Amino acid sequence: MFAESDAARRAGRRVVFVPTMGFLHEGHLALMHEGKKRGDFLVVSIFVNPTQFGPGEDLEKYPRNLAGDLALCESAGAEAVYTPRADSMYGAGYQTYVSLSDLPNHLCGLSRPGHFRGVATVVTKLFHTVAPHVAVFGQKDFQQLAVIRRMVKDLDFFIEIVGHPTVREADGLAKSSRNSYLSPDDREKAVVLHKALSGARERVAAGERNAAAIVSWARDLILETPGTEIDYVSLCDPDSLEDLAEIGEAAVMLLAVKLGTTRLIDNMVLLP
Ligand code: PAJ
Repeated sequence: MFAESDAARRAGRRVVFVPTMGFLHEGHLALMHEGKKRGDFLVVSIFVNPTQFGPGEDLEKYPRNLAGDLALCESAGAEAVYTPRADSMYGAGYQTYVSLSDLPNHLCGLSRPGHFRGVATVVTKLFHTVAPHVAVFGQKDFQQLAVIRRMVKDLDFFIEIVGHPTVREADGLAKSSRNSYLSPDDREKAVVLHKALSGARERVAAGERNAAAIVSWARDLILETPGTEIDYVSLCDPDSLEDLAEIGEAAVMLLAVKLGTTRLIDNMVLLP
């Protein structure tokens, strides 16, 4: 992979990278299309990274479809697809990890200890091997994007990070490989995440500035749907991810909700 990318760089091409865990959908494809605008040698990686899954999470059952994924990458104009094996990424004696001190102490980092350490570590490894000029990530994983931006700045990666807006189903549900776990009944119920976020945005647009009032309204709306279990509903500063009491210049609402055994996340920037 490094040799391919290095040759492209030497030929004066701009290497653009979209890392994924596969089971690709239109959200991933949108990142690839964005990538094609930002560079001319598009690399996609497909790797279900074991170090970002906790004990009891869905590593073993994470959906896979390599043949279908490769066809989608080709149709989107990818010139290389990097599919390393877990035992070559983390061989015997592996012991080096990248971890951030503050950003993981919020939101998904609290319910998934070690998750962002796994993400930061694998993205570092992928960045070294793919050596891109620019990498594209989805805003759907808002905290992940914040972690990557921080890491790239702190550790002097000379890589431009581009965030791409969340791609949604017609009813507003954010596209996700994990949506395939939902029963038809839970799939219908899952629209409540987007309803809570867009309702919160309307409240802010109408002048509401009290974060607790908005969070409590959103929690009530979600819990009206039977079978939902809230992990978190938070109104945060978009950079630090610290909880806000009052909404000032900038705010993002983030939520994680379980439907049956499936944990869904979503977020929406409420201001500016
Ligand atoms: P994965 O969940 O496969 O997502 C790969 C990329 O696609 C991420 O940047 C994610 O934010 C983006 N994405 C997923 N759903 C999206 C949607 N509906 N709209 C827009 N973008 C979307 O995120 C990971 O994999 C992994 O943690 C990874 C970064 C590859 C490290 O292992």
